[in-house]
Amino acid sequence: MKVAVYPGSFDPVTLGHLDIIERSARLCDLLYVGVLVNPQKRDALFAWEERVQMLHDATAHLQNVHCECFQGLLATYASQRQAAAIVRGLRAVSDFEYEFKLAAANRHLAPHIETVFMMTSHEYSFLSSSIVKEVAQLGGRVQGWVPEGVAERLADRFLPSGGAGR
Ligand code: PNS
Repeated sequence: MKVAVYPGSFDPVTLGHLDIIERSARLCDLLYVGVLVNPQKRDALFAWEERVQMLHDATAHLQNVHCECFQGLLATYASQRQAAAIVRGLRAVSDFEYEFKLAAANRHLAPHIETVFMMTSHEYSFLSSSIVKEVAQLGGRVQGWVPEGVAERLADRFLPSGGAGR
């Protein structure tokens, strides 16, 4: 059985993430989507439990996708899950340097696990959780960028009326 891990912060999950999840789930038997729980990082908008729940809701149609959290080293988590591959999405050249270092560090820590890069579909090439949060906070529309349930949670956070009249 081919197992892969798709790790990230997912604060919150975007349709760009979902695109990578759907496409990589077709390439393996079981895909774990791992939300990093980082107690040192206190500026997350959503608690990790909410981030996992949003991913769970957004991937309910995918039978071989399991959403969960992990703590500590990604290489350790992927090894524990007996993953053959770590999946990462690449949007633009600017992603490359960080991803190159991450892949090299993980290869050093777990040489038996390959990092596999997937090009983001062009319609999501500009999209990030940070852009989504900034636009939502400033009252802009995020429909078409995030799953509907995520848009509702963002409206609850940022719109004074809790999103009434969206
Ligand atoms: O969505 P992100 O924030 O780009 O995901 C980054 C993530 C979670 C994949 C990365 O920060 C990570 O793997 N953190 C776990 C700690 C770790 O393994 N660090 C060593 C590799 S340099």
